[in-house]
Amino acid sequence: MRRILIIHSDQGVQSSLREYLSNEYSFEVESIRHFEEIKSPKELSTFDGILCENKYTDKEGFNVTSGRNLINYSIDHSIKKPIIILGEVEVDYGNYVSLPSRFSLRDVSLQLIKSLGVTEEELRHLKMPDYIQVEISNFYQLSNPCCDIYIKMTKTGEDHYVKRIYADDVLDKDIVRRYEDNNLTHFYVQKEDFEKLMGQILSQSLSKVVKAFKQGSKVLETSSDTYEISQNLLNDMGITPQTVKLAKTSIVAMQKTIAGSKKLMPLLRGLLENETSYAFKRNYLISLFFYQIIPNLGWGRGDQLKQTMDKVCYICFFHDIVLRDEELLKIHDSEDLALADITANQKKLVLEHANMCTTLLQEISGIPSGIDVIVRQHHGALNGIGFPDVYTSNLSPLAICFIVIEKYVVEILKCLENREKLKLNSILLELDDFFHLSSYRKIVFELKSLINPN
Ligand SMILES: [Fe+2]
Ligand SMILES: [Fe+2]
Repeated sequence: MRRILIIHSDQGVQSSLREYLSNEYSFEVESIRHFEEIKSPKELSTFDGILCENKYTDKEGFNVTSGRNLINYSIDHSIKKPIIILGEVEVDYGNYVSLPSRFSLRDVSLQLIKSLGVTEEELRHLKMPDYIQVEISNFYQLSNPCCDIYIKMTKTGEDHYVKRIYADDVLDKDIVRRYEDNNLTHFYVQKEDFEKLMGQILSQSLSKVVKAFKQGSKVLETSSDTYEISQNLLNDMGITPQTVKLAKTSIVAMQKTIAGSKKLMPLLRGLLENETSYAFKRNYLISLFFYQIIPNLGWGRGDQLKQTMDKVCYICFFHDIVLRDEELLKIHDSEDLALADITANQKKLVLEHANMCTTLLQEISGIPSGIDVIVRQHHGALNGIGFPDVYTSNLSPLAICFIVIEKYVVEILKCLENREKLKLNSILLELDDFFHLSSYRKIVFELKSLINPN
């Protein structure tokens, strides 16, 4: 049996990984909180593979780069065991790889199988029982479990599994404690639900961990969880951690390109530094959806696709850059405009903002070409002025894509702001009703496929 060592300071992350890897892959898993707890190089080399968090905060509040320390230690002692760092760090060489900060169980297991050279043959031999036990403490933080939860009863020598908590039931620590007080140590879930449940527990724990690094770290490193959109929620919307990573990399690249512009840089900085603002949330979320669906739209491959991707970030963050008030940003059509209680100047600004943003962008050199056209068309008007009554198909395909995604995101944010239950399927049905042309509906279809994959 292969032995795996997990080094992670968060109990939740530690135990969800341990449960998953030991049940799903029959690995023998040990875990410790910190790298410093390793007693000797000899002890470390008894493991076939090591998972280690990239950094943690110690008692004095200092950030410790545990992942890097572990790699240095293993190089110094010639330990050639595969090491997977949980969280980004520049280590992708030899036996060392890193995963995104918001890794999934699947990321970890696929990487482990690869790094350890587990064969197909070995995987075939792993057979899980119908009900899988999960240590009860894993449920402390789980408010709405994604599947039914059972307890095991043994009657006349036979095991029976009785459903005690239903999927989406409200669960809290007190409820879990009551089971513990009755000497229950494990809950059980059905085999087919196991991975999903452990994924849910892991991603809740990770949200906490990533949040802990928010303070003092740069805006871009943690932006996805600072505005009430957890990876959990992003998962529900079909946005993968890889896409989040891609979007963040593009934002950094864009900032570098814009850096020389005295006009645009302050505007962009104002937007990016204020992650809790409506503008940031909306633009960032639009970019994520864009990156997630673009590869499926058949707009080319390789360089061609990359060029399109490069444009996306600019379009998302600059299309409304001259609108500073949330109230103005929430005006999307003539009806919204008529209802808004704003001054004549503000009204003029709203009507002309698409054209104004285009002019600003045209002054910048070095940005991908063609962005200005799409920004100008982002409300459906070819000249970038006003809100047309109907959407036409003579816009740029990227502009059409933008219009549909922005509408989707606006509806999602409305739900989140009102603290309503997010029903993505009903939002998408409304979009289906709203857009009549097939060029627009194609995008709705792609957004649907994200949440209902076949
Ligand atoms: Fe706009
Ligand atoms: Fe907009």
